[in-house]
Amino acid sequence: MSISIFPTLIHYAPLGTTKLIKELKKEAYQIRDYDKEGQKWCKTNYPGGYTSYQTLSSLHTFSSTFETLEKSIRKAVKSFSKKLQYDMRDKEFFMTDCWVNIMPKSVTHPMHLHPLSTISGTYYVSTPKGTSSITFEDPRLPFYMAQPPRPFRYSITPKAGNLVLFESWLRHEVAANQAKEDRISISFNYHWR
Ligand SMILES: [Fe+2]
Repeated sequence: MSISIFPTLIHYAPLGTTKLIKELKKEAYQIRDYDKEGQKWCKTNYPGGYTSYQTLSSLHTFSSTFETLEKSIRKAVKSFSKKLQYDMRDKEFFMTDCWVNIMPKSVTHPMHLHPLSTISGTYYVSTPKGTSSITFEDPRLPFYMAQPPRPFRYSITPKAGNLVLFESWLRHEVAANQAKEDRISISFNYHWR
């Protein structure tokens, strides 16, 4: 018998209604068009794409649509945290950041983690045919010494209307978007108190 210890969990499941997704898509473009400062930042830091990460990163306090989304995500975070065996007695999760990402064809998002956060994730709003995957890296990688080759990455090709959650220390990347249309997502961080 073998026992699995210290597993790395990822939550991937549907969330929200068609109406909510449609509204989020509309607002994503409105935010991009309004956010001139963000557009300027992206020219240097996110070539070809748009993210409100640097300029409008509290969208859950900015729009009632994002506020509605946050309430649903928080429930999923709470349920995910039980599987992670967090002791959350007399504690609660709260969203610290929420931003939108618009990735036209060929735009990539390099390997990163979400420092100083507890649980992070992404909600997918638009995932046209050819949408790039989100790829997670085995967190044990820095400790490998004499291991033979084995898979050290895991990819999910997301579908619109689905939510991905992971612990914020888990490194991940998004390969170049191969879809002709924009890949649109909303990313966020949660902390606890
Ligand atoms: Fe990320």
